[in-house]
Amino acid sequence: MTIHIGAKKGDIAPTVLMPGDPYRAKWAAETFLQDTRCINEVRGMLGFTGTWNGHPVTIQGSGMGMPSLSIYANELIKDYDAQTLIRIGSCGGMQESVGIRDVILAMTASTLSTPSRGIFKELNFAPCADYGLLSAAHGAAIAKGVPTHVGGIYSSDVFYDERPDLNEQMIRHGILGVEMEAAELYNLAARYGRRALAVLTVSDHLITHEALPAQDRERSFGDMVEIALAAAFA
Ligand code: ADE
Repeated sequence: MTIHIGAKKGDIAPTVLMPGDPYRAKWAAETFLQDTRCINEVRGMLGFTGTWNGHPVTIQGSGMGMPSLSIYANELIKDYDAQTLIRIGSCGGMQESVGIRDVILAMTASTLSTPSRGIFKELNFAPCADYGLLSAAHGAAIAKGVPTHVGGIYSSDVFYDERPDLNEQMIRHGILGVEMEAAELYNLAARYGRRALAVLTVSDHLITHEALPAQDRERSFGDMVEIALAAAFA
């Protein structure tokens, strides 16, 4: 057990999928894994371990924002020896070419600040995905026929951001979408020599102001889970 995860050592698989929402973790585990069991209920941040095509997999909620994700990813890596960590979540589209429901595979994650800021100080470290995971996820997404974009995203600390100039600069520099967790996941993976990737579905759009209807969210989320699982075991 750790401070935030109640699982015993060995209850967490080397491959961990991390949705922000703990109820999405429950849904994904019940829908895509076999022999599923709940391994964490601390603070309601549900985690489940089961198997996918015979491979052990854990799906653990991360909560929203980098401070929350950092807690779970640190403990998964340092206390449970997780090797492959894949964020599955939603993002806001930031380019006209990116549509609602499209998948974005985050090659890099720009950010103003992460919980790792104290280490980097004035250095603008460039957190990036594991190339093998990225390439495998791209192949899986194309095979599924899901419209997919690969490129840079922006990990923000603020959902209701009142600095339009910053979003404008991100858009101007070709950033595909905005979410709130990937940069810190990539920092931790780099620091501890693990594999990480963020697979994201566009749920709302900062230019067109469209939003994914509630009834479509489950289907889109399912595509992401399948892409992440295929990439992890490619
Ligand atoms: N996650 C989904 N949509 C988002 C947005 N517009 N900003 C930040 N995180 C998000």
